[in-house]
Amino acid sequence: MLTLGILGSGSGSNMQAILDAITVGTLQAKIAIVLSDNPKALILKRAASHGIPHAVIDCEGHKNKFPDYVQIETAEKLKQAGVDLVCLAGFMRLVKAPLLDAFPSKILNIHPSLLPAFPGVAAWAQAVEAKAKETGVTVHVVDSGMDTGLVILQEKLDILPAETADALHKRIQVIEHRIYPMAISQYAHSLNL
Ligand code: GAR
Repeated sequence: MLTLGILGSGSGSNMQAILDAITVGTLQAKIAIVLSDNPKALILKRAASHGIPHAVIDCEGHKNKFPDYVQIETAEKLKQAGVDLVCLAGFMRLVKAPLLDAFPSKILNIHPSLLPAFPGVAAWAQAVEAKAKETGVTVHVVDSGMDTGLVILQEKLDILPAETADALHKRIQVIEHRIYPMAISQYAHSLNL
């Protein structure tokens, strides 16, 4: 059985979508562990309410950094839980060598734009600010860059005239929730996981 580990910093709606796809059987997998660098994140409460093992990744006061020794501890936790594919779901720190080397080509990310356009934070707001006509969602394999790495699945979305960043993000999330479980399933099959 495909065993997933999820890393998130926020509300965890993508984690919920993955869980829902597992429940209805469109994604054959289990979530073994949910980890968050934000002790107050809703993603941890969601995991608790579904009885999924969860823990805080303690970055010890580092605001944006994901220190190497913390990445090593994170990799250990994921390995102990038997994880074979790691899914970043709104995880807002850059993953580097210690974690990448522990899961080579086995970390996925969902990003709220059509990469390579608008990498980084609040990509939906960047798209509105840039007066872009379209944006979208990308699922990609994580490498050492910021929102770079092999694209597995993308879906386009037209930006409506005078659409606010918040309204656009809501529509982007509807797409995210549909395509992330699909992309995970597709990618896991391609690796025989
Ligand atoms: C999602 O929109 C995800 O694409 C984005 O954070 C949000 C998390 O929402 N991720 C990034 O911007 C990563 N660069 P969620 O916590 O409700 O899943």
